[in-house]
Amino acid sequence: MSDATFTPRVFSGIQPSGGLTLGNYLGAMKRFVDMQDAGTHECVYCMVDLHAITVWQDPAALTRNTRELCAGFIAAGIDPEKSILFNQSQVSEHAQLAWIFNCVARMGWMGRMTQWKDKAGKNAEAASLGLFAYPALMAADILAYHATHVPVGEDQKQHLELTRDIAAKFNHDYGVDFFPLPDPVIEGAATRVMNLQDGTKKMSKSDPSDRTRINMTDDADTIARKIKKARTDPDPLPETVEGLERRPEARNLVNIWAGLADLSVEDVVAQNAGKMFGYFKQDLADLAVAKLAPISTEMARLMQDPDEIDRILARGSDRARDIAAPILRQTFDIMGIVRN
Ligand code: AMP
Ligand code: TRP
Repeated sequence: MSDATFTPRVFSGIQPSGGLTLGNYLGAMKRFVDMQDAGTHECVYCMVDLHAITVWQDPAALTRNTRELCAGFIAAGIDPEKSILFNQSQVSEHAQLAWIFNCVARMGWMGRMTQWKDKAGKNAEAASLGLFAYPALMAADILAYHATHVPVGEDQKQHLELTRDIAAKFNHDYGVDFFPLPDPVIEGAATRVMNLQDGTKKMSKSDPSDRTRINMTDDADTIARKIKKARTDPDPLPETVEGLERRPEARNLVNIWAGLADLSVEDVVAQNAGKMFGYFKQDLADLAVAKLAPISTEMARLMQDPDEIDRILARGSDRARDIAAPILRQTFDIMGIVRN
């Protein structure tokens, strides 16, 4: 079935498993806002708490992180009236469809997921069953809305391919054209923001060292200090993009600039050709503070009224359920599951 028969709809999710980083912002959230503002798609954005608990979450921290993530979405520019904003576990259709997809996906498919291999590490025996099944829940998140487009960072590409495999197998096994094969939207200069101290590693909220990342809750001084202390090589900025090859730290700072300023990497290189990194980092720090500090200030303000955040999530969940419930009902019908 061609996507043309489906309402253009965006779905994406972020785990409430700790602080948001600049990677989440540039790779995901900022692009969620762009897609909302483009007005071409209905947008559904989710705090995926059921994904977060595939590894241990302290209950009080999970509550706080869910609210903080919601505040982050709104502070970054998501309008909870225009977009649907909610947390996954309030819409039970996600878990129900995930179970169905657990029965569609194959063990071999799951075992090939690089995120599973990285997260389970050498001790896969001790990992939760949920961590292994994680991509089937992600497929359910997306397909419960018949979403056609999924903006994510580069690290989620393989999970999106698996989502398409699940949709295709379901359609094939039941002889239907029911689920769309959603397209990943992995665009822009900053689909993979790297660690500020080691340009070969991804910037991550779980790195033990706080100096390796910028958190969306960092204040202006902290943001500026971390950028000025970011690792770089001794050479000035090159004249061309090719000159960034094999210079991962330099490349990362240029990508961050491009992502924050909505410029191409070529434009950033052209504007800064020959500049020493000391000056470049000073300017980048100013740019980052101008873009990010207002978001962290707004997040802090929103966090003072947790009841209001909970009301927003409840309302978003109702709107999400209105879309997902009929799709789940049709899924049961197709499968011959008796429901009245
Ligand atoms: P997570 O925090 O793992 O739930 O990720 C939420 C979203 O942020 C996903 O779309 C990720 O691909 C994206 N993301 C996380 N870290 C980075 C990064 N370092 N660079 C770009 N995108 C990222
Ligand atoms: N797995 C994603 C991540 O860790 C989060 C996620 C869960 C997601 N469900 C999703 C992203 C559905 C896009 C669509 O980043």
